[in-house]
Amino acid sequence: MSRLTDKLKSLLNAENANLQATFAKGTRSARIISVCSQKGGVGKTTTASNLGAILSKNYNKKVLVVDLDPQGHIEKSLGALIPEGIEYTPLSSVLTAKKGNILDAVIPTTWENLNLTPGDKELSETESILASKIGKEFILSQVIDPALSHYDFIIFDCPPNLGNLTLNALVCSEYCIVPCEMSVLSFEGVSDLLETLELVNERLNAGLDILGVLFTRVDKRNTSMNEIIYTHIQKQFGKKVFRNQIAVNTALNKAQLAGLPIFEKFPSSKGAKDYQAFSEEFIEKLNKTETKKNKSSNISKIRAKQRKVS
Ligand SMILES: Nc1ncnc2c1ncn2[C@@H]1O[C@H](COP(=O)(O)OP(=O)(O)OP(=O)(O)O)[C@@H](O)[C@H]1O
Ligand SMILES: [Mg+2]
Repeated sequence: MSRLTDKLKSLLNAENANLQATFAKGTRSARIISVCSQKGGVGKTTTASNLGAILSKNYNKKVLVVDLDPQGHIEKSLGALIPEGIEYTPLSSVLTAKKGNILDAVIPTTWENLNLTPGDKELSETESILASKIGKEFILSQVIDPALSHYDFIIFDCPPNLGNLTLNALVCSEYCIVPCEMSVLSFEGVSDLLETLELVNERLNAGLDILGVLFTRVDKRNTSMNEIIYTHIQKQFGKKVFRNQIAVNTALNKAQLAGLPIFEKFPSSKGAKDYQAFSEEFIEKLNKTETKKNKSSNISKIRAKQRKVS
């Protein structure tokens, strides 16, 4: 041992610290939720960050929000809650390490119950690095495992594509929430997403289910257009469509720019009320789904309906 260089010693110490983190178990059992859609700008990050914040503050749940998007928007959306000078391992390094542990990439916020794993630019490269790995769809499952006993909820904010990172998130998730903009282009991609969800469900994660489609950026003035879009999506997703919708509200945009959850920055805004109502329905839906005795995924049924409709 005396011939070991300091560098080697510090590497060994770091390895030991990692192992300790891996084995120090908590007492919780995380539910894992992916917020996904390959369509850009539909409110994935707004939903993931505000849902995470509400669950931690109003429901006293320990929450980890994981940003899988190289754009790193979660860190910006909740930036005002992040203390200065925090050191952490970038998620891209954790995902490409031999025995990565997500706890190394977690940062605290000024809210005790809310933790984040920021997304970093190198995650774009991680997409292609993962592609060449054996068991590439299961890497995040392994990396996330040490965190499961430390959180009540782990929420993935997925990138706007159906690449390896989104696949990895779906493989370790029990549920996904699909934000869908109330616009003519809203159907675009729903079919591709459903196809992916069905394949993941059949081949990689039989436990994956759609918790619901959440209509976002709804302009209530477009009554007839909204009705057409709602009916079309409802034909496919049935009860899976969330009753509560998120209206267009510039306060949501301003809160994101200020790096704060909407109900912290503008608590009486329409956006805050919409996300509050959505969170209540989220909890209600989750409890209903979980109390069903033989919980089985409905993805293939939804996909069959979708084939009929289109
Ligand atoms: N209901 C809303 N009303 C007004 N602005 C909104 C609403 N929801 C989201 N926005 C704004 O729209 C933009 C895109 O939202 P967001 O970043 O949540 O989408 P995204 O699906 O995560 O995008 P990307 O695919 O690029 O990751 C942001 O500037 C956000 O503040
Ligand atoms: Mg986003």
